[in-house]
Amino acid sequence: MLDDTSFAIHPGNKKDANTEVYRDIGNLKFFKQTNAGFLFGCSNGFVVIQFFTESIVRVVMNQHDEPMLNGSYAVIEEPAQVKADAAEDNKQVTLITAKLRIAIQKSPFRITVADSNGTVLLDENEHGMAYRENGEVIAFKKKHSGDHFYGFGEKSGHLDKSGERFEMWNTDVYAPHNPETDPLYQSIPYFMTLRNGKAYGVFLDNTFRTMFNMKSSEEYFSFSAEGGQLDYYVMTGPGPKDVIQQYTHLTGKMPIPPKWALGYHQSRYSYESEGEVRGLAKNFIKRDIPVDVIHLDIHYMNGYRVFTFDKEKFPDPEKLIRDLGEMGIRVVPIVDPGIKKDAEYPIYREGVTDNLFCKYLEGDIYFGNVWPGTSAFPDFTDGKVRGWWGKKHKYYSDMGIEGIWNDMNEPAVFNETKTMDTAVMHRNDGVPAAHRELHNIYGFKMAEATYAGMKEHLDGKRPFLLTRAGFAGIQRYASVWTGDNRSFWEHLQMTLPMVMNLGISGVPFAGPDVGGFAHDTNAELLVRWMQVGAFTPFFRNHSAIGTVYQEPWKFGLKNESIMKKYIQMRYKWMPQLYKLFHEASVSGIPVMRPLFLEYPDDAKTYNLNDQFMIGDNVIIAPILVPSITDRAVYLPEGNWLNFETGETYAGGQVHLIHAELDELPIFIKAGTAIVQGEWNSNTEKTPKQITMDIYAGTNDETYRFTHYDDDGESFEYVDGSYLQVQIEVKSTLDAVHISIREQEGSYRPAYDKINVNVHGLHKQQRVILENHEDSMLSLELKSRG
Ligand code: GLC
Repeated sequence: MLDDTSFAIHPGNKKDANTEVYRDIGNLKFFKQTNAGFLFGCSNGFVVIQFFTESIVRVVMNQHDEPMLNGSYAVIEEPAQVKADAAEDNKQVTLITAKLRIAIQKSPFRITVADSNGTVLLDENEHGMAYRENGEVIAFKKKHSGDHFYGFGEKSGHLDKSGERFEMWNTDVYAPHNPETDPLYQSIPYFMTLRNGKAYGVFLDNTFRTMFNMKSSEEYFSFSAEGGQLDYYVMTGPGPKDVIQQYTHLTGKMPIPPKWALGYHQSRYSYESEGEVRGLAKNFIKRDIPVDVIHLDIHYMNGYRVFTFDKEKFPDPEKLIRDLGEMGIRVVPIVDPGIKKDAEYPIYREGVTDNLFCKYLEGDIYFGNVWPGTSAFPDFTDGKVRGWWGKKHKYYSDMGIEGIWNDMNEPAVFNETKTMDTAVMHRNDGVPAAHRELHNIYGFKMAEATYAGMKEHLDGKRPFLLTRAGFAGIQRYASVWTGDNRSFWEHLQMTLPMVMNLGISGVPFAGPDVGGFAHDTNAELLVRWMQVGAFTPFFRNHSAIGTVYQEPWKFGLKNESIMKKYIQMRYKWMPQLYKLFHEASVSGIPVMRPLFLEYPDDAKTYNLNDQFMIGDNVIIAPILVPSITDRAVYLPEGNWLNFETGETYAGGQVHLIHAELDELPIFIKAGTAIVQGEWNSNTEKTPKQITMDIYAGTNDETYRFTHYDDDGESFEYVDGSYLQVQIEVKSTLDAVHISIREQEGSYRPAYDKINVNVHGLHKQQRVILENHEDSMLSLELKSRG
């Protein structure tokens, strides 16, 4: 109550950290090889070490019994057969595989994970694995000089999380989102450590409240959970991209989203009537501003009852959706988990009669207050409930809706704790567990149910799902927006590291509320945010009730034309973005990347918060402060060309770059290429022409990339209906060779050639195009300069 006064720093409030006494796992008593791995019996508990793949090792501590190895919500992969040898002497046991060496010191039990050369990745010092009587489990690990930490899902603050401390407990946080505001909506108990260019990752597979403390000591860091087993995976890289691949091997990849979901989304809390929505859509068409989606926030419903429309304000939703569809615009409605307590509301009645709501052990339904007032909450941890929830979405899909926005699914409740009573007992597919244990997966399970239901109803079409809450693996079902930020420049700045860290945490399809949710935006902030949004994987302008309207035309013609330029740019870049989304769906490597992912040996990139990469060859360096038109841009090794001016800049240094309000600094690496389409109109979004821009290099650089395309809306790509063309660009002193190497897949797009523009050619350089006789796409030189 007095937390926001000086009482918060009253001397009597000091917590003594030393009172936390952990019981160490103790000394090794015995070890044996089992089917699943190696079991270690220690004086104070048991540990299993399991080689999950050649590069991923899992460690599970259970203080009471032999560890259980099943029951993960996040991990969808089975352990592989990995050949491992064990050697033992007086002091230690060593487990050796082709790629790893795990040394286990016997007294006390301490684990060192090293690569096959013996280079230590993750080790322990005087503290190791331990627990407390209250059920808390913890692992202390040695901090090495030069350790940089990334990931942790959705966190505010800087890119590099060294010296930070995080909690994972899905929380509805309205607006503050300060650097220290923690936890937020998502819980992804995972991080990556980068040390001298090499990386490893740790995933703590535990749904209880978890803590990551990279702050309290110079000697060690720790990760802990309030209960459950200490169950963690070490992903041994060696590169940061390898770690992401390994993490998404465990927790799954994002399926390729429908193309329309990668376009521009317009939202507001709320567009309150059919008339308003139609007017909005017409504005986009009239002004030739691209838009793919209009979101309907809570006002579309009848008294905030999900699976209803307010028939006074939205008399004919089917027709609205059909008419907008003809304009090339889709409608995505918000769906919250809280079901209004109303004896005449069929969804509530079904929930009660069919026993679908979260209940206490004693049998009472849990009620909490959210938008509709007193509400019950479906128990998504139960398969029966997930099935029911999925089926209910036929209401939306029958209207022509293909995308759903899940909000308030932490779950948010308007009370002191901000959420459900932790004593609620979830059904949990036959293994009942308290909300204290399952809180962090409530939103994840809701997303699973929604995605599965929509997928079934859409009959072969790809659903789009947006969620606020989630857990590790959420990328399998949903994209994520970063919740209720504010219309502050600081929040625009924060967007970059936040979305980059989400990408590192396996969630490639993420973005902020462009323009800021709370508070009033202004023209300059909105323009600069749109420039960033044009390149964030998820691109939605959204703002809160009571704030100024922030549609692209609300700030005069000059600003409108700049925003239009960047929203159109998003669509011109769509082929490039789509290929990166495809890549993310295969490898897990995010679309929007911190520079260190491509340049892990370059320490200057380790905490670069105000620049990002799109793929492996494009750097975006937006202006993130008001009234400023110059900024420092760091370009890593190689030469870089300014996308707008064609000017070449030497890498390995900082440049001062000028960017008026209508300019966004974009740099393309020399020797590489990007593929672009064109902007036609809202009703004709599929490009008929594809252009490849090649930025000539000089030093025998070879750049290989894949152009990917498919129908953008069905799952037929799974059965081979896609087009994948390998293109190679080789720059030598006297020529730039561009060749089509290989083609795969049966999809035939609307274009049959790629127009080639070559930029930055040196005087002596010729352009040589080499087509592949069997390829369905041919290269055609359009310009050189
Ligand atoms: C929450 C969401 C926000 C939404 C609002 C009303 O605050 O985070 O995006 O507009 O609820 O539904």
